[in-house]
Amino acid sequence: MLQYRSSILHINQVSALDLVSRFGTPLYVYDAEAIDAQIAKIKRAFAALPFRPFYAMKANGNLSILRLIRQHGFGCDAVSPGEIHLARRAGFEPDEIWFTCSAVSDDDLRLVGDPRIVINVNSVSEIERCLSLDLPNPIALRVNPDVGAGHHRDVVTAGGGVKFGIDLAEIESARMLVEDARRKVVGLHAHIGSGVSDIAPLIDSARTLLDLSTAFDELRWINFGGGMGVPYKPGDAEFPIDDYGRELAAFAEPLLRSRGLTAILEPGRYVVASSGLLLSRVTTKRISGGAEWIGCDTGFNHLARPSKYGAYHHILNASAGSEASLRDHFDASKMDEELVVSGNICESGDIFTRTVGGAVITRPMEKTRVGDVIAFCEAGAYGFSMASHYNARLLPPEVLVRGGDADLIRARQTFEDLIRGME
Ligand SMILES: Cc1ncc(COP(=O)(O)O)c(C=O)c1O
Repeated sequence: MLQYRSSILHINQVSALDLVSRFGTPLYVYDAEAIDAQIAKIKRAFAALPFRPFYAMKANGNLSILRLIRQHGFGCDAVSPGEIHLARRAGFEPDEIWFTCSAVSDDDLRLVGDPRIVINVNSVSEIERCLSLDLPNPIALRVNPDVGAGHHRDVVTAGGGVKFGIDLAEIESARMLVEDARRKVVGLHAHIGSGVSDIAPLIDSARTLLDLSTAFDELRWINFGGGMGVPYKPGDAEFPIDDYGRELAAFAEPLLRSRGLTAILEPGRYVVASSGLLLSRVTTKRISGGAEWIGCDTGFNHLARPSKYGAYHHILNASAGSEASLRDHFDASKMDEELVVSGNICESGDIFTRTVGGAVITRPMEKTRVGDVIAFCEAGAYGFSMASHYNARLLPPEVLVRGGDADLIRARQTFEDLIRGME
């Protein structure tokens, strides 16, 4: 939970400025209790179903975060051999990991390693390769249910012209291919996109999976994917998770129970986005093109979403702010400045305040000076996990806050990390 005490931003009792003096900037900070709270909402919303929550670890793959989520009884969706490795290291058992393929190579498939990990195939071609490599793993089919959704066209993963999923017209041949090889399809899966705000397309997709399921005798799971959105902007609505659970249960529960099937959901963003902040120090303030700009010591190499998708991250002055600047209480009329917020990467696109179309805009903020610490909110999902070393900038450390304590869960890198493997 974020609040201001004596004008300083606190993350669940811990002062952002104390964190910065201990760990420096830029710094990713996660609030463990915010993750617990999101997980509680998921468990409550789908309690009527025979249900196992999974976590899409691409959203945030820090080992401590994975361990925390695993302790809540989640399984794990992994999309690369590296993610499988991390999931295993975090303690997920092989039979609670699904490997969701995307243009995987034979090497990727061999690296799955454990025969109990479910291989969730994305195409008939991948089924053929699993069979020819003689991999004994249980097979699930990722279906393209012909309906997609998401906060940006690049995160819509179903419908026309996307690279994901087996088209409905091909499902029957996929089934026969697996069964002719005397293998079983144990799961059906669809993931229609990320940052979905409306439940209608999710429900459409779920209905399609249930309709298809009757053709599969050996099915054990139906995986309805992730995609549930979270509020980013002041005024954004909460995702109606209870309605989603209720509607899903209304038509899915009888069929799932009568066939002894378990429903899986594999959210990423919903679990971790609102737990995270990226703290950064303001390094410059200038006027350009008639607008006031601040620059800070992080960039799109650490938080790619604004420059990649024009995504909104609420930005706070953590050194000198007030409750009126918090997203939930945001009052633009009480903000003193209109600022463009830019990063330290040597590219013109390194700007955190943009429209979805990419235009540079200003943001109403509290008075912000060089040396202040600013906080990019809702940065817990697709923040660090999309970070890179571009411009030979080091990856930031990560800290987990719980009950007033803060633990370093990933160390700050050193220049040695930049040259590893090159000399
Ligand atoms: C297969 C799959 N499952 C789950 C997710 C998680 O999506 P979200 O973070 O929107 O819940 C993704 C993200 O793109 C995905 O590709």
